[in-house]
Amino acid sequence: MHFELTETRVREILAEAARRAPSIALPEASAGEPSVVDMAALWLSALPVEELRAAAVARRGPRAADLETFSPLYVTNTCDAECRMCGMRRDNPELERETASPAQVQRQLETLERRGIRAVALLTGEYRRDTRRWAIGLTRDALGRALRLGFRHVLINIGSLAEDELAELLADVPRRADGRIAPRLTLCTFQETYDRETYRRFMGANPDNPRADFERRLGNFDRAAAAGMRAVNPGLLLGLCRDLPYELVSIALHVRHLLARGLEVFVSVPRLRQASGTSNARGLSDDEFVRMVAILSLGFPEAKIVLTTREPAEIQRRVLPMAGVLSAGSSAVAPYTATGARFPLEASQFEVIDQRPFEEILGEYIAQGVRFENYEARAESAGARPRIPREAGLPVSPG
Ligand code: SAH
Ligand code: TRP
Ligand code: SF4
Repeated sequence: MHFELTETRVREILAEAARRAPSIALPEASAGEPSVVDMAALWLSALPVEELRAAAVARRGPRAADLETFSPLYVTNTCDAECRMCGMRRDNPELERETASPAQVQRQLETLERRGIRAVALLTGEYRRDTRRWAIGLTRDALGRALRLGFRHVLINIGSLAEDELAELLADVPRRADGRIAPRLTLCTFQETYDRETYRRFMGANPDNPRADFERRLGNFDRAAAAGMRAVNPGLLLGLCRDLPYELVSIALHVRHLLARGLEVFVSVPRLRQASGTSNARGLSDDEFVRMVAILSLGFPEAKIVLTTREPAEIQRRVLPMAGVLSAGSSAVAPYTATGARFPLEASQFEVIDQRPFEEILGEYIAQGVRFENYEARAESAGARPRIPREAGLPVSPG
């Protein structure tokens, strides 16, 4: 049941897709799901990106307006790894290191809650075995706080974990009768690139670097499933590997494996952004990005594509109807204020392009009829207005 990925398999699929590309047609709204070969053939075909996008939106039908949201909360920006594209890498002397205290985490979660956000991603760096226990402790504490405050979905983005470490992270989380985790928790570990050569170039090869082990990272979701988790979030960091068809086929095989295990799957395809102490090349073109999202959406209607405010508003608008999630926030530690957020590049993982408050971002789409699960829009002048206490006897909706 463990996911295995070989270059030979990916190349075989690509060869078959190249034969099929000249004659492949747009999938009809009513047709079955395209296979991984079909997805690659769509990528390689001459079909224009806008036609692929329209087909993907049409196939989603009314679901195109049903999204969810969450905001990231970086608990610390320390890290033991050396990923070359990332501001948090341990060998970046320019980054101002910060770790939020439990009290600060509590206040940040309360701030998000007050602003209507009911889902949060908790983030840290990736650590060597000893330090990892510390990061797991921080995350376990923050997770407990989020669940006690009534957050309905918590995503965990803290690198890859061993079985005993997953057990420790989840020790306080209630279980269902079948032994699996009761609340909605999602483990996020983006492979970044499925090409081992590119992986080595960016994530390193030194055995002392906890991030350098490609296979350990690739196996994280299978360990998470064994530990009782029900939802996972693989991803590509677009811009690391130029061989996009290779990346597409690889992540498609990974997603198919995870769905076959009965896991709920979120798929992230962030584009590379500027970061402190690096000069990242531009990721890939807007059209390549939209093409990637369209084909993933066509191939996996049951998976939710995660779009973030790394993308500017114009691109969000193009991609939103194919996405399942729009996530807005900052990649700095404890950045939220009553009405906005701080975006200091010198203390952030990377540059966030759309820095508008999430009320404004989500509000723009809500005004167009989009619904966001896990967001409760507040009245216009939000912060200033007193909250109606729960005891006020308002009718409670069922469930
Ligand atoms: N330390 C954890 C948490 C990562 S944060 C880990 O590495 O798993 C989530 C994601 O941010 C990373 O997986 C990567 O895909 C993305 N990221 C890293 N550097 C970036 C950059 N310069 N621009 C955009 N995204 C970046
Ligand atoms: N890197 C994480 C992710 O892509 C955290 C994140 C989610 C994020 N949404 C964001 C960072 C919005 C900045 C802005 O899942
Ligand atoms: Fe650390 Fe994650 Fe950045 Fe790599 S991507 S340096 S593991 S924070």
